[in-house]
Amino acid sequence: MLQFDVSHALPFLPKNWLSSRLDGLTDSRALLEKGNGVGGEFTGWVRLPENYDRKELARVLQTARIIRDQSQVLIVVGIGGSYLGARAVLELVTSPNYNLFCKGPQVFFTGNTLSSDALNELLDYVRDKDFSVNVISKSGSTTESSIAFLLFRQLLEEKYGKAGARDRIFATTDWHKGTLRALANQEGYATFSVPGSIGGRYSVLTAAGLLPLAVAGIDVEELLAGAADAMVRLRQPGQDNPAWQYAAARHALYTEGKNIELLACYEPSFRFFGEWWKQLFGESEGKDGRGIFPASVEFTADLHSMGQYIQEGERDLFETVVRFTLPASTCTLTPTPGDHLDFLRGKDLRYVNEQARRGTVLAHVDGGVPNLLLSVDERTAYWVGQLIYFFEYSCGLSGYLLGVNPFDQPGVEAYKENMFALLGKPGYEEKRKKLESRC
Ligand code: PA5
Repeated sequence: MLQFDVSHALPFLPKNWLSSRLDGLTDSRALLEKGNGVGGEFTGWVRLPENYDRKELARVLQTARIIRDQSQVLIVVGIGGSYLGARAVLELVTSPNYNLFCKGPQVFFTGNTLSSDALNELLDYVRDKDFSVNVISKSGSTTESSIAFLLFRQLLEEKYGKAGARDRIFATTDWHKGTLRALANQEGYATFSVPGSIGGRYSVLTAAGLLPLAVAGIDVEELLAGAADAMVRLRQPGQDNPAWQYAAARHALYTEGKNIELLACYEPSFRFFGEWWKQLFGESEGKDGRGIFPASVEFTADLHSMGQYIQEGERDLFETVVRFTLPASTCTLTPTPGDHLDFLRGKDLRYVNEQARRGTVLAHVDGGVPNLLLSVDERTAYWVGQLIYFFEYSCGLSGYLLGVNPFDQPGVEAYKENMFALLGKPGYEEKRKKLESRC
């Protein structure tokens, strides 16, 4: 059961933190459900778990089998919303060490950097391996992913010839428009779609996430089933709705001066889920001079690096802890008598981790850091599907409560414009002159 617990934030919240926001939440819910708010043309994700294209899912599953049969490695090329969701789910459901233990193809993510060292390392790694490429870009023209795709496509063509490469390239992009769509049509690559009504950071439950995940052997139908069950539950209006509670608590804490939200988890495999969540909330809320700054920490590791700041630094933080109540494996501790860990004899590591969580919450609350707790049962595809939908829906509600468009990202263009000008892209000549004089 997905459960939200606000009790360790209550000392920091006004009594009416939820009741005073019920009208705003009712309005926000209506905007999401009807798709008629600002940015409403990008609310296709709201009903996606029940509306998804069954035929496309069948093709995703069939293609995943082909890729598994023909490849030792799958290279996933994408950036931002075109890779974070897939990597988050892959690592959370399996392990950050997936590539060491996987039974099927290894999965590497690239196209999210302009580092020649990073790209050359991966090109060298796959040079003598059978590999396939899933290039993911909704716009089809993002610089980082276009460059990585160029390099891996050239390597595929060198290894397998143009026709052989064609059988190993899978493009996920807009159905109708964009540079990648045009290239895929021209070259005859197999293609999958990111629906026009779903923005990158809300696209993990489309082929953008599902194809790489299916290649990794993750049960994507269970992922969708978890999201569908969360959708049915979270659609119910009212103060018992955990997404309403989360959105209201965040908004109330922000109003009380808590400008930074730390997403924490006691499972190392959660790290990239934190990265996905940061993009989701950061791009959705951070605009018009407003928004909670989303950060993430991995406990207990970061208690030994960030713990001091969290406990005693600026008091403008709150924490949201994600807890998996049923860890998959056990590990009983058997220290030798007299060992300094003797007090843990017979204890399971799950119990130790849980006491670390309980002790940390109380310490942080005593230090002035409100704590929100979100619990789900297991790190399985089903429960991760629930988590994804919970955060997406809460994010939509939160953005509307804050009074911003939760579905655009105009600020992302600023660096691109400067980069294109400095690189000498045609059309940017005037801007280049101005920038060069400032550099
Ligand atoms: O959320 C978003 O829209 C962005 O983060 C995009 O996903 C990211 O910029 C990649 O864009 P594209 O898929 O067009 O390559």
